[in-house]
Amino acid sequence: MTVKSTRDISTLDEVENFAISELVEAATNRKHSFRNAVFSTIGDAGPTSRILVLRKATDAPFAIQFHTDTRSGKVTDLRHDSRASVLFWNPDQKIQVRLNVEAEMRSDTSETAAAWKLIPIDARNSYNTDLPPGSKTQGIAWRPAEQRNAADAKFFGIIHGHVTAMEVLVLRREGHLRARFTYGAKGRGVASFLVP
Ligand SMILES: Cc1cc2nc3c(=O)[nH]c(=O)nc-3n(C[C@H](O)[C@H](O)[C@H](O)COP(=O)(O)O)c2cc1C
Repeated sequence: MTVKSTRDISTLDEVENFAISELVEAATNRKHSFRNAVFSTIGDAGPTSRILVLRKATDAPFAIQFHTDTRSGKVTDLRHDSRASVLFWNPDQKIQVRLNVEAEMRSDTSETAAAWKLIPIDARNSYNTDLPPGSKTQGIAWRPAEQRNAADAKFFGIIHGHVTAMEVLVLRREGHLRARFTYGAKGRGVASFLVP
């Protein structure tokens, strides 16, 4: 059964299907609240969070994708510890989705080349600045677009987040709902409702 509203959810399968379909939809819908995710890594100084745009979500296998500059701090963090936590919140549906992912960094592949081609020229400056992201500068270090080499995809990468666990919290008048799912090589593992 397709669940259209969180009010219709009553089974674990419906919780899972609803959350995953919202993620899949958000990856192609700029206006969806799940589009901007909070992506947290473990660094030398402890946990660090930042917002990343959700670029793709698939249900089988359950995975999500983000674009980034491979010189960024988050990529350094992921090289040391590939685990990340990804948080989504939809204030209209009052649904929070928390994912644990095993991150895999891909760059300089046919997949990243194809994704680069689809990025508008003006938006490519997020991934091809002269200095690495986070470098100290004298002023606002922003070169005019025409001076940048828009073809240079050397530092462009895709973070593939292979989902290992999902926790869904839905705030509802008729009673809050919380459920947790784990995922492994064979797909869904353990699933359970939890005390909200
Ligand atoms: C709305 C919004 C969307 C963003 N999207 C991305 C993104 O898709 N990829 C990215 O690498 N950084 C994105 N950023 C910038 C990151 O939040 C972060 O500042 C940057 O990636 C550097 O983070 P790091 O030093 O922890 O790696 C976005 C920021 C905002 C506010």
